[in-house]
Amino acid sequence: MLLEVQGLTKYFGGVAAVKDVGFQVTEGTIYALIGPNGAGKTTVFNLITGMLQPDGGAINFLAKRLDGLKTYQVAAAGITRTFQNLQLFSGMTVLENVMTGAHLKGQTGFVKSMLRRPGINAEDKKIIEHSMALLGEVGLDGSAGLPAAALPFGQQRLLEIARALASGPRLVLLDEPAAGLNSTETKTLAGFLKKLKENGLTMILVEHDMETVMEVADRITVLNFGQGIAEGTPAEVQADPEVIRAYLGEDEQIA
Ligand SMILES: Nc1ncnc2c1ncn2[C@@H]1O[C@H](COP(=O)(O)OP(=O)(O)OP(=O)(O)O)[C@@H](O)[C@H]1O
Ligand SMILES: [Mg+2]
Repeated sequence: MLLEVQGLTKYFGGVAAVKDVGFQVTEGTIYALIGPNGAGKTTVFNLITGMLQPDGGAINFLAKRLDGLKTYQVAAAGITRTFQNLQLFSGMTVLENVMTGAHLKGQTGFVKSMLRRPGINAEDKKIIEHSMALLGEVGLDGSAGLPAAALPFGQQRLLEIARALASGPRLVLLDEPAAGLNSTETKTLAGFLKKLKENGLTMILVEHDMETVMEVADRITVLNFGQGIAEGTPAEVQADPEVIRAYLGEDEQIA
């Protein structure tokens, strides 16, 4: 098992944003976390990545304890993420944004100064080539020199994914990658995620777009008010009456 989350709990004030949540992610699969707004999905990501420390429970990655580590230690262990609200470096180019993920985990000043150096060394060259290849995979290599802020929103989402992939992670956490994408972009994204999985990458997907979730996820945990209310394959979760009630209201059906 690549990632094992057990009894994960986090309180904000007196309120449990995440309570006794557990799930296991097999290497080479896409695991989805779904649930209504405020269910605790992003908080789970913040706990896994060390942005928040849990009040209870354990997180094991490659059979080593992850909880208690700092964000940079979690990144170094091989876990990267994207953000629900994009966190690109808008003043940097598209290429530079990917390079920060490849090399330096956010040390933007360093990247800038590196790029300004007169003689770029062999290692830097490798990073540039690798970053350009990643941009090619998301169809953004033609925009490498543009400021990130100049890209349309859908392409900025893809850029953030490319940056998350740049360090060669074992596990990538994607927080609503389809939010704000049109239907063509969403289909492209789903195809891209499936291709990444075929190449052996493990992902956890938080997403409200049920069509995408049902298409790409191998297993799903449904959260509601911080607690897991269902776990299973897309077919099992879609058929679960409690999920339909909690997630969509009495009269609707999932996708
Ligand atoms: N830093 C924080 N301080 C206080 N409360 C927080 C904090 N982060 C999240 N919360 C609360 O915890 C609960 C879970 O929030 P979270 O962002 O994890 O939900 P979510 O499932 O990601 O929702 P959405 O689908 O809207 O993104 C919410 O009630 C939220 O208001
Ligand atoms: Mg969220």
